[in-house]
Parts: sequence; structure tokens; C-alpha cells
Amino acid sequence: IPVDAFDLVIFGGTGDLARRKILPGLYRRFWAGQMPDEARIIGAARTDQDVAAFRTMVAEAIAEFVSERKRDADCIKRFLDCIDYVTLDARGEAGWKELKSKCRANTVQAFYFSVGPGLFGDIAERLRSFKIARQDARIVVEKPFGRDLATAKELNRELSANFDESQIYRIDHYLGKETVQNLMAVRFGNVLFEPLWNAQYVDHVQITVAETVGVGGRGAYYDKSGAMRDMVQNHLMQLLCLTAMEPPAKFDPDAVRDEKLKVIRALDPVEADDIVRGQYREGAEPGYLQDVENPDSRTESFIALKCHISNWRWKGTPFYLRTGKRMAARMSEIVVHFKPTPHSIFGEEAGTKANVLSIRLQPDEGIDLSVTIKEPGPGGMRLMDVPLDMSFAEALGEEAADMPDAYERLIMDVMRGNQTLFMRGDEVEAAWAWTDPLIEAWTRRGSKPCSYAQGSTGPEEAMMLMHKDRRRWRELEQ
Ligand code: BG6
Repeated sequence: IPVDAFDLVIFGGTGDLARRKILPGLYRRFWAGQMPDEARIIGAARTDQDVAAFRTMVAEAIAEFVSERKRDADCIKRFLDCIDYVTLDARGEAGWKELKSKCRANTVQAFYFSVGPGLFGDIAERLRSFKIARQDARIVVEKPFGRDLATAKELNRELSANFDESQIYRIDHYLGKETVQNLMAVRFGNVLFEPLWNAQYVDHVQITVAETVGVGGRGAYYDKSGAMRDMVQNHLMQLLCLTAMEPPAKFDPDAVRDEKLKVIRALDPVEADDIVRGQYREGAEPGYLQDVENPDSRTESFIALKCHISNWRWKGTPFYLRTGKRMAARMSEIVVHFKPTPHSIFGEEAGTKANVLSIRLQPDEGIDLSVTIKEPGPGGMRLMDVPLDMSFAEALGEEAADMPDAYERLIMDVMRGNQTLFMRGDEVEAAWAWTDPLIEAWTRRGSKPCSYAQGSTGPEEAMMLMHKDRRRWRELEQ
């Protein structure tokens, strides 16, 4: 179903995110018939260029980031007809009147702040003072949403001085991933799991987001952030919330976000002994210190930690989180390890097994439940695990291959006015309120990250975090 006609202004329209994700994503939705020909996308940036030059940039982005199958000449031409451009000074006066003249009265109106958070306040203020944004305009903002509680509060304050919370769409692109939403469908669309989804039956939960890339050309940003701010405070926290939250009464924005917020607020502080930070050393590729050009850096490119949720459902069941760069495989998954049966009727020699439900976010999206069966053959009763494996690509065929990527889905949700998959201001603040003391504690102690080899599973100490609890991380599979 196509969305209604819209005007989408992309501040930072010539930037990397717009080129790699936003513009190719919009094109794919146009190709799929979801974005109407009447829509307008207005790039706004400092670069002094005309519409034709910007359209060339958009065409190049499509050529680079959209698969050949979807690159249809006629479709690209019609898409480029929807594109406009304004040269604009976010901190000054230039360009704002021109932008106003391009905005139509009777369409959905959205402003995408694809710029550093330092400009959020200036842009928000000008959208209002130049009377460009209507009462029902939607504002889309990207991470990093602050670097601690104080800066996040300041950003929320700047935005809310000009816009109502119901107009603000804070993107966490993990929420746009197909399998992340499937986590909710699995939990709340089946009767099988929810009765067991608690501390009585779940031994522990593991959430892994492993990457093979290093910090690449983003050293300057990354070295001031580290894995905790870059990944845990937002992406892993969202995965934890969706895994642990109570069933909302309805799948509507505030019902879902209220439940996520309760989880964050119920998180215990994490003990220093339950956090392992790591930095990849030099190997086939330069090490972290070379990548960020800071030989004394104590910023982590890997983190593993154990946390507890103090509520009735989860008291006593640890959640282990880990994420890192330059690891052995690119793999993100949520794994729920159930407890073994209370008693084995087959005796010790049959072996004890426990069910494991894994939800793979990427690559090879899918869901896998290990169940216990009898080892085949006449040799008596010995137990083994077999997977009940559902790969989306196999089960859904073509549909899985055509799944919109996270940005496509989220931008279309903005146009539909659906905030369910966007973070609310209080949620972001609560996540920082939990993160801040952990970062402060290791900074105060002057603690150094442990070193780990490129292409590994992270530092040895992260293995110990599990071993001391007689548990093991799941293998990182390619
Ligand atoms: C971003 C982080 O938010 O997410 C990056 O800033 C990280 O450091 C990226 O690489 C991972 O996203 P994805 O979708 O590739 O898993």
C-alpha cells in the first residue's frame, strides 16, 4: 500500500548516511510502488550546487547501493523527478526562505536531521522561526543521541522546545531489522513460548552483536564513544528490552515503549567484575590504536557484560551482552537458554540437554529451536539435540530476499506516522542513566581494555565471564 504524498527534507542531504542508506532506501520503496510520484525529497546542505548536481549525486548513490535488479531506467528517472535541493546554512539565515517556498501545504511533512547532534537545536529553532514546520510536521533524528544523560537531556530539551514528543522520531536502526520485529511476533504471536519466558524456566539469555569490520574511517568519533556508547546503550539495549519486556496490551507506540522503559528502569547496576572491555590489536589489519591514531587510547572496541533485571519475571536470570569489532564473524543473535528438565528419567548416562531458542538477526535471518530427541540406533536411550531450524530465506523464498532494509521500513513508518519502532525521549534518558555510572566507574579506575586478536571471539577474559558461571558463549559462526 503506498503511503500518502509527502515532503521529506533531508538536512545533511549530501552526507554519508543520506548517500548510503536514506536515498537508496527511498528509491527501493519507490521501485516497490510504496512511495508515490507526488512525493518530494528535498536535500538540504551547505554544498553550493543546483538541483541537477544533487540529482546526479542521487543517481550515483542508486548505482552504487541498489541491486541491479531494481535499477530500472524509467523508474530512476521518475524518482529523480521527485528530488529537489536547497543550499542552506544550518546556523545562519541563508536558504531557509527558499526551503519554505518549496514546502507544500497539504502533504505529510517530515524533516530528517541527518547531521551531527550539535546542529539539532539550530535546525529545530529555524524550522519554527521561519514558520516552515507545520503543527503536524515529523522530525527524524539519528544517533548518537547524546553521549551521556546530561547531553541527551539537553538534546531532548532543544527538540521539545520546538516540537511535541508525538512529532519526534528517534531512529535506532536495529528496531527496523526484520528479525527484531519477529522477536515480538514469536513471543506474542505464539502460545508456546510466553509461559516459559521467565526466570523459572530460562537459565540465561545471551545477546551478541559481533562485527568483522574495524572502526574504519570513523576513528575520531569512535574513540570518543567506544562500544558501550556506540552499541550497548542503544542497539543491544533495545534487543534486551524486546526480549525481556512484559506483553504490551496492544501493538501501539506508547504501549510498547512503556514496557521497554520498565525493563531499563529495572536493570541493576553492573558490578565491575561483570564487565570486560577489549581492544583489537595489530594483526592482518592495523590495530585499534593505529586505526584511531591515538597510542594511549583506553576506549573499548569490544565489551561483554552480565546484567540482571530486578523484577518478578527475571530476578535471578542473567542477561549476557557482548559486542565488538574485528571479531571472527559478523553475527548478531539473541539466544534464550532454557533450564534443563527438573529430573532425568533416563538416568545420568543418557546425558542432560536443555532447549535453546536462537533468534538470528544477521546474516541468515531466522529462528532455531534445539529440541532433545533420542540418539538413533539400538544402543539404548541416549539423548541428543537437533535443531528445528527456520531460515527465513528458505521458508519465505522470494519474499525474504525482498525484505526492506531497516532504513526503508523506518522511513515509511515516519510517513505513516507510526512511532512504535522509534525511541521515546524518556527511554533514551533511562538507557543513559544506566550506562553513565558504568562508564564513570571504569574511567575513574583508569582501567585499560584487554587486548584481543583480530578475527577472534574477543579477549580471553570475556570467556572467563561465562566460565566462572559455568556457562559458555555460543560459537561465532560465519
Ligand atoms: C552503528 C554503529 O549504529 O551500527 C556502528 O555506530 C556499527 O559502529 C553499526 O558498525 C552496525 O550496524 P549493522 O546494521 O551493520 O549491524
